[in-house]
Amino acid sequence: MQGYQKRRLGEVVTNNRYLSVNTDTGAGWWTIGVSETVPEGVPVAVHCESVDLVCFRDNDGIAHTLLDQCVHRRAPLSLGKIAPEGWVECPYHGWRYDGSNGRCMEVPNLSSAERVPSSYRVPVYTTVERDGFIHVWSVGDEAPSVDAPALKCGSLGVESELTSLIAYPGDALIDLLLDAPGAVLDLGRLRVINEHRFGDPVRSENELSVTYAVVDETTEPGILVSEYPYRLQIRFDCVYSSAVATLVSEDGATTARAVMAFLPVKKALCRVSLRGSQVANADDPSAIAIGLQAAIDPQIALNTVDYVSRLR
Ligand code: FES
Repeated sequence: MQGYQKRRLGEVVTNNRYLSVNTDTGAGWWTIGVSETVPEGVPVAVHCESVDLVCFRDNDGIAHTLLDQCVHRRAPLSLGKIAPEGWVECPYHGWRYDGSNGRCMEVPNLSSAERVPSSYRVPVYTTVERDGFIHVWSVGDEAPSVDAPALKCGSLGVESELTSLIAYPGDALIDLLLDAPGAVLDLGRLRVINEHRFGDPVRSENELSVTYAVVDETTEPGILVSEYPYRLQIRFDCVYSSAVATLVSEDGATTARAVMAFLPVKKALCRVSLRGSQVANADDPSAIAIGLQAAIDPQIALNTVDYVSRLR
């Protein structure tokens, strides 16, 4: 506990019930991860821009999010555990909080004549689980003014998911996805030709889409080719800052798809949540899936022209 005291005391103190946050990202929703990132029985720390949160599931499996700060002495609740009642228990002195309203439900050592004051309450953040993603309303527990993002991936046969922390600023990462998707997406044995777009990007009221050429591993880097066995379409939702990448083969069949949400975590860190689906192919063990690069290649970032991203 000493480590947390050093780090925490005097920090994250506010006179407001909720900390001041930037609600531009995702129309006020933070997509904190795919559903699998919050397993049952374990509180999970979530960093959203300047706010530290704890997300956990109650005994019905419903995800709740609270400010990651016990009202007693501000210990991070994410270091605690889930009590038998489905409440989150502080690791320091064992106070327990109900995720649905943030109320402290139990304080150890209270006499039978004592009650926990109703003012003992941790700020709650409205949490919605939808399409396999967990979304947190960044303003707190007030009624959201817009629906949570709809990020349905749809099934092509084989599903996958991942949540990855990428050392790159969130806004710049989205720009890079639009201008040079090969820097962000990992297509396994395929390679996106970042310099080859099919036509101009198309901007509608809420969406920006662009299509790139994709070659396979037999094409040497740097070689100009005129035939492309695949195309990668990126559709970016300008309202929710989410994206759908679709890989289409020469004959027009969809081979793989991935739905992504971006959450700026710190100034130079972005959390990307991705659900993907690909066509099952028993004859091809290296069937193509859309994943994420482990790191951004600085050389690609350096050479990228911000053309498409200017439209968002
Ligand atoms: S700091 Fe949480 S119970 Fe004391």
